[in-house]
Amino acid sequence: MDQLQNVRENKYKELHITLYLLSAMIFVTAVFLNFNWKLEAQTDLSLYFKCNAYYIIALLLLLIGYVVMIYLNAVAVGVFILSGFIFGFIFVFHNSYLQVLLVIPVAFTAFGTGKKMGCWVAFASGFILVLIDVYKYLLVYESSYDNLTRYFEADLIFIGTLVICAWFVGGVAEIERESRNRLIDLANLDGLTNIYNHRYFQVYLKSLGEEVKQNRQSLSLIMFDIDRFNYFNETFGHPAGDNILKKIGGILKEKIKKPALAARYGGDEFCVLLPGYVLSAVYETAQEIISSIENINLENPEKFPSGKITVTAGIAVYPEHTEEVEQLIELADQALYKAKNNKKNKIELYFNVLDALKSSCNKSETELLNSVRTLLCIINAKDRYTYGHSERVLKYATMFANYYGLPESELRLLQYGAYLHDIGKIEIDTDTLNSLSKLTESEWEQLKQHPYWGSEIISPVKSLERIRPLILYHHENYDGTGYPEGLGGEDIPLGARIIRIIDSFDAMTTDRPYKKGMSAEEACAEIEALAGKHYDPELCRVFVDLINFINHNKSAGDWSVT
Ligand SMILES: [Fe+2]
Repeated sequence: MDQLQNVRENKYKELHITLYLLSAMIFVTAVFLNFNWKLEAQTDLSLYFKCNAYYIIALLLLLIGYVVMIYLNAVAVGVFILSGFIFGFIFVFHNSYLQVLLVIPVAFTAFGTGKKMGCWVAFASGFILVLIDVYKYLLVYESSYDNLTRYFEADLIFIGTLVICAWFVGGVAEIERESRNRLIDLANLDGLTNIYNHRYFQVYLKSLGEEVKQNRQSLSLIMFDIDRFNYFNETFGHPAGDNILKKIGGILKEKIKKPALAARYGGDEFCVLLPGYVLSAVYETAQEIISSIENINLENPEKFPSGKITVTAGIAVYPEHTEEVEQLIELADQALYKAKNNKKNKIELYFNVLDALKSSCNKSETELLNSVRTLLCIINAKDRYTYGHSERVLKYATMFANYYGLPESELRLLQYGAYLHDIGKIEIDTDTLNSLSKLTESEWEQLKQHPYWGSEIISPVKSLERIRPLILYHHENYDGTGYPEGLGGEDIPLGARIIRIIDSFDAMTTDRPYKKGMSAEEACAEIEALAGKHYDPELCRVFVDLINFINHNKSAGDWSVT
C-alpha cells in the first residue's frame, strides 16, 4: 500500500507539473496575442519594448514557478506565482479573456485542498477582479459607465462559473481523498482493535529507526502480552476474548499518540514504540497501560485467578541494547519471555549477561563474545527454554561463586561454562528438544551427545580452552553413573560439578508447557536426596544454604551477575 501510495503521489506530481506547463503555455500565448493586437493598433516603439519586457518577465516567472514545483514539491507556491502573474496582466491589459486563465489556479487549489478552500479562492479572485474594474472605472476610463458595466457584467458571470468549477473539482477530489484514506486505514489498521497492524508497525519501525539514527535519539519498544489469554478464550469464548482485545486497543489508542505508535503485533501481543523517551518515562508509560488494562471491568472477575486481566511487558531500548533498530523486537520479546518466566516483575527491561561480561573483557574476548552471542541466538530460535535456562544457570552460578568465595579467575571460568554448558543442543533436532512425550531411545542417545558436541563447537576458540571440560562433564554424576565418560568424585572438574547442581535445580523449578515447576524447597530436598549420588555433597550443602539465604533475604535480587 505504501509503495502504491508513492506511485500515486508521483503520478499526481507529474500531472500537476504537466498542467502547470500547459496553462503556462496558454497564458504566454494569450499574452503574446494581446501584445500583437496592441502593437497593430499603435506604432509607439516604447510600447513595443515594454511589451517584450513583459513577455520575458512572464517567461522568467513561469520558469521559477516550474522549478519551485519540481524541486520543492510546492504546488501551492507554483499556483500562487501563476495567479499573481495572471492578475498582473489582467491589471495591465484589462481584457476579459485573460480572466479565463484564473480557472487554472482555482482548479489546482480545489483539487489539492477541497471544495471549501477552492470556493474561497474563487470568491477572492472574483473580488480582486471587481477591485480592478472599479480601479479602472475611477482612474483609467474616467468614469465611463458603459465600459465599467461591460467588464462588470462579464466578471459576475465569470465569478459564478469559477465558483461552480471550484465546487465540482473540490467535491470530486474530496470523494477521492476520503475513499483513499479509507483504503489506507483498511490496509494499516487492525480490524478488531482499530490500532495499527503488524504490517504497518514494521514499516513504521523502519522509517522511525532511520529518523532516530539521524537525530541521535533513543527508541524504546515495549512489548505487552496478555497473561493466560488462552484460558480466557476457553473459559468465556472467543467473542469475549475479542472484546478484551478491543478494549486494550482503545486504551492504547487513547494513551499513545504519534510520533509514538501502538500496534497489535500478534494474537494477544501489542507493541508500543516510544521515540526520544527517557527510561523512567518508558517504565511509567508501560505501568500506566498495565494499570488501565487491569482496571478493565470484567463480567465474571471471580473466574480469574487474580480477579482481573493482567499483562506482562518486555522493554528494549536503542541504542543501549542494540545498534540495529529492527532487533528491538527480538530483544523486547526476550525480556517479555523472561518476565513471564520469573513471574517476579510485570515489566522486564532487556538484559543480556554477555553485555555485563563485556565490560570486563578485552578486545579479542569481546569479539569472541559476539560470535557466542550469534550461536545463542540460533539456540534461542530453536528452543527458548534452553536459552532462558542458560541465562538463569549463569545467574545462579555467579551467586554461588560469590557465596562460596571462588577466586576471580575461577568465577569467570564458571560464568562462561554456565552460560555455554548446553550450547551443544544446537546440533539436536528441534522436535527432540521441544518434545512433549517421552523420548525414544535413539532420541535420548542423541540428546546425551550434547556435552560432547558443545565442547567440540568451542574447541576452535583458543581462549575458551579451559571451559571445554565444564561443558563436556556437566552431566557427569559424583558416583560415576553420568555421561559422557562416567567420571566420578573429584575427577569431575569443580565448575562442572557446580553446573550439574544448578542445571538440575533450574530444570526442576522452571514451569514447562506440560508440567509446573517445583518450589525451591522441594527442589532443594530432591538435590539433598541425591547428594553423593548425582551431586558433590559438599557443594550441595553450600547450594542449599545459598537458596535458603536468598529466600530469607529479599535483597538477594540485587546481586550482581558479573
Ligand atoms: Fe545439559
